[in-house]
Amino acid sequence: MAGPVAPPAGRWGRPAGQPLTVNVDKRRRPPAALVRLRDPDPELVVGEVFRSHLRREAPMDVHLRPPETSDAEVHYRYPPQASIARMYGAAAGALPKPTMARSSEWLAWIMGQSYGAMMDVDGEPVGHVRLHSLSEADRKARLAIGLFSEAMLGRGVGRRAITLCLDHAFGPMGLHRVDLRVLAFNTRAIRCYLACGFHHEGTEREAALIDGVWHDDWIMGILAHEHQRRAATGIVNI
Ligand SMILES: CC(C)(COP(=O)(O)OP(=O)(O)OC[C@H]1O[C@@H](n2cnc3c(N)ncnc32)[C@H](O)[C@@H]1OP(=O)(O)O)[C@@H](O)C(=O)NCCC(=O)NCCS
Repeated sequence: MAGPVAPPAGRWGRPAGQPLTVNVDKRRRPPAALVRLRDPDPELVVGEVFRSHLRREAPMDVHLRPPETSDAEVHYRYPPQASIARMYGAAAGALPKPTMARSSEWLAWIMGQSYGAMMDVDGEPVGHVRLHSLSEADRKARLAIGLFSEAMLGRGVGRRAITLCLDHAFGPMGLHRVDLRVLAFNTRAIRCYLACGFHHEGTEREAALIDGVWHDDWIMGILAHEHQRRAATGIVNI
């Protein structure tokens, strides 16, 4: 049955009273008017973003907070997983052994970042997001993010956490630019970054040698005014 679908008010970066309305019958083909509304980034079509809304699972409360001493224990509880390690460029079979010493070192490292935050979903820590390589002169920093468990991937947590991190970067931190590096085969992360407003700015060809194979690295970036425009229009904040 066709009918309007409104995401919960206020949960999607859209002010209450302005619900996103989509014809359910046409979820594979958004209304032409929406498809014509293209983002300045040609890789991101608004219609795609609207389809993403429809695929989301039950809304989750994603929250960023400063790391605490007890997060070393949380990190230790999630043994490294091959599919996640690969996205950071680890070779197959090169998984580190989980130890409390390793997790304590990890926590100290997160705490030492320009901005290092834990991601909580419905009150449970599920990963981290950080800004590093801060340049005060150029008002820029580099973003890195990682969820601890495969079970959390692809459920919209990354988008929400990155949006919150960018709110902080372009708000209280006063940055002008945030960029990142991502392996070109990490399509899940790339889709997440595009949806958060990052642009593909260039490619470092064959920048990573993993298991004897060269892989490209993408350079992606977002500027303060681009993020603010997105926050104001509410088009993307999933
Ligand atoms: C990168 C990461 C933080 C993104 O967070 P996330 O919660 O998984 O991402 P989201 O659910 O918000 O968005 C993922 C996008 O990829 C899509 N996706 C999901 N599974 C996918 C897959 N197997 N392949 C390609 N795309 C996939 C989703 O549909 C979504 O895009 P869409 O809404 O346009 O359809 C998370 O995946 C992660 O921690 N990965 C492992 C570590 C990593 O890669 N870190 C980044 C290194 S640069």
